[in-house]
Amino acid sequence: MHDRLRNRAIIVVGAGTGIGAATVERLCVEGARVCVADINLPAAQAVAMRMTEAGHEAHALAIDIADEDSVNACFAAAVDRLGYLDGAHVNAADLRTIFLDSDALSLDLATFDRTLAVNLRGHLLCTRAALPHLLRSDHGAIVYTSSSASVAGEAERPSYAASKSGLNALMRHVASKWGKSGFTANCIAPGFVMTPEMIAGGAVPPDFIDRCIAGTRSTRLGKAEDIAAMAALLLSADGRWINGQVIHVNGGAVLT
Ligand SMILES: NC(=O)c1ccc[n+]([C@@H]2O[C@H](COP(=O)([O-])OP(=O)(O)OC[C@H]3O[C@@H](n4cnc5c(N)ncnc54)[C@H](O)[C@@H]3O)[C@@H](O)[C@H]2O)c1
Repeated sequence: MHDRLRNRAIIVVGAGTGIGAATVERLCVEGARVCVADINLPAAQAVAMRMTEAGHEAHALAIDIADEDSVNACFAAAVDRLGYLDGAHVNAADLRTIFLDSDALSLDLATFDRTLAVNLRGHLLCTRAALPHLLRSDHGAIVYTSSSASVAGEAERPSYAASKSGLNALMRHVASKWGKSGFTANCIAPGFVMTPEMIAGGAVPPDFIDRCIAGTRSTRLGKAEDIAAMAALLLSADGRWINGQVIHVNGGAVLT
């Protein structure tokens, strides 16, 4: 494994489970000091404890990215603890709303509003809290987790797709405004990733899994580690000339 993030101070938001938790582990293994932030504090604490028991440096903080005060307090506490900030992976999404996100005619507006409040407005709040710190570094980087849904065109989940398309646009703005300061912003757009929690829950129907694999140009579905590996690259010196991009990590499911 690389050592390319040695002493980098990085916050991962939405890090208690799934892709975020895998990213924390990858960043730690590559030498980073990591703040594990999530609305689910016990889950974040469990991830941080697993990392410290393995000899890495990590600590947990609570954050609700729908709440500006909570976001500002979390980032301030993270910088207090880490001393500075080199990178942020803003990965949180409210995925409960996805099951109610039917179609443009029938979806409840509360579903649309909540989806945008977390998946898009929340990412803007994190950007505003992170940027002043990241711009002090000569290698500051922010990585957002988008989705294939941002470009795929689907007959369902319009709020989710709109939130992730909006996130791609936010990222392009941030890269355009601050790229000349030595700062990078990129989105990772995962295809379908079976997280450890999904596997353990056993609720994803086998025929859905088969259809998803059939829709890829790959032998398998995504793992959380596939996304974590890309996040680590984008937060490292290897990613310094990658800026303003939506990078699809999806086994070839959607070709762009
Ligand atoms: N798993 C997939 O197939 C897939 C595909 C494409 C994109 N994504 C994206 O990847 C990211 C991670 O998803 P995942 O599959 O690991 O799911 P997950 O539910 O395991 O991770 C999401 C995390 O965000 C946290 N969170 C939710 N609301 C929050 C809030 N208001 N404030 C702070 N934290 C909050 C949750 O507690 C959770 O830990 C999401 O942005 C999701 O849209 C996932």
